[in-house]
Amino acid sequence: MKRRLAIIGLGRVGKACAEAIAACEDLAAAGIVRRPESLGLPLPQALLGVPVAPHASELGGLDAALICLPRPLVLEAATDLLQHRIPIVEAATVPSAGYRSYQRQIDQVALRHKVAAVVGAGWEPGMLSLFRGLFATLCPKGHTATRDRPGVSLHHTLAARQVSGVKDALCAELRAGSGEIQRYVYLELEHGAALPRVQQMIENDPLFLDEETLVLPVDSIAALEDEGHGVVLERWGTSAAKAHQRFLLEGRFDRVAVTAQVMVAAARALPTLAPGAHVLADLPPSVLSHEFNEPPN
Ligand SMILES: NC(=O)c1ccc[n+]([C@@H]2O[C@H](COP(=O)([O-])OP(=O)(O)OC[C@H]3O[C@@H](n4cnc5c(N)ncnc54)[C@H](OP(=O)(O)O)[C@@H]3O)[C@@H](O)[C@H]2O)c1
Repeated sequence: MKRRLAIIGLGRVGKACAEAIAACEDLAAAGIVRRPESLGLPLPQALLGVPVAPHASELGGLDAALICLPRPLVLEAATDLLQHRIPIVEAATVPSAGYRSYQRQIDQVALRHKVAAVVGAGWEPGMLSLFRGLFATLCPKGHTATRDRPGVSLHHTLAARQVSGVKDALCAELRAGSGEIQRYVYLELEHGAALPRVQQMIENDPLFLDEETLVLPVDSIAALEDEGHGVVLERWGTSAAKAHQRFLLEGRFDRVAVTAQVMVAAARALPTLAPGAHVLADLPPSVLSHEFNEPPN
């Protein structure tokens, strides 16, 4: 049977949650809670026919609620839902200085009403911390650097666009944790072009020889430039006395869409959790994604 989720607030994250739920076979949108002035507004395609109410108590048979409200309203909404014994997932971008206290307040209400909650189930707070923790597990003695959008190098972008087989290119440069410049060359290839040949031509070009260059194929440079968020997470150090270990996560993505995806995955984990507030690191990975259940290659 499908698990029934309510969406509280239909802004950017709320709409993205609706899309994420619609794409899951095991989940269904059970209802939407909106402020009074939004109750009559049209719903996006993914939510047509889904009931809308001013309060979750008016929606029947909820398994959990995804709180997608502006940050200052989230604690009050979480408290109210937990008092109604509705498990919750939230992802509010609470400043780190107040985060522990915020989490503790939700934990206390959740414990009092014997309900599970997942807090910080987005990108940041959320998955980014999980990746940081995983990298530190692989390489316990070392340093981690996190950087947002790398700067674009027009000079190198133009050079990469000249290579035969390249339809479009974007070249970004950033300073690695070691202090050296790294270059990321994103390539959209012409139909039928072979990536290894193009990659070799770029890597052997004298213009690119001076710095470490990583060539990354993408479907569309235009889409890449439209995307709002980029991150480079790097960890370097020692694993089991072996020095010079290095781990790198490079991502460009829509932060709202990714946050919704994480919230939906966290909602799937709720029935496995004890009462109280949990963070992503507390959740069983095998519940977050079926991929964790696949046998190793
Ligand atoms: N962890 C992460 O990486 C991450 C990333 C992005 C966002 N977030 C968090 O996700 C939450 C939602 O963000 P969002 O970008 O979707 O916000 P948003 O676009 O501003 O949408 C919030 C929605 O809340 C509802 N709402 C109820 N009372 C409201 C009020 N007094 N003023 C304004 N809206 C009100 C509205 O929906 P109705 O009109 O349907 O009532 C509104 O569309 C925030 O808490 C944000 O911090 C986290």
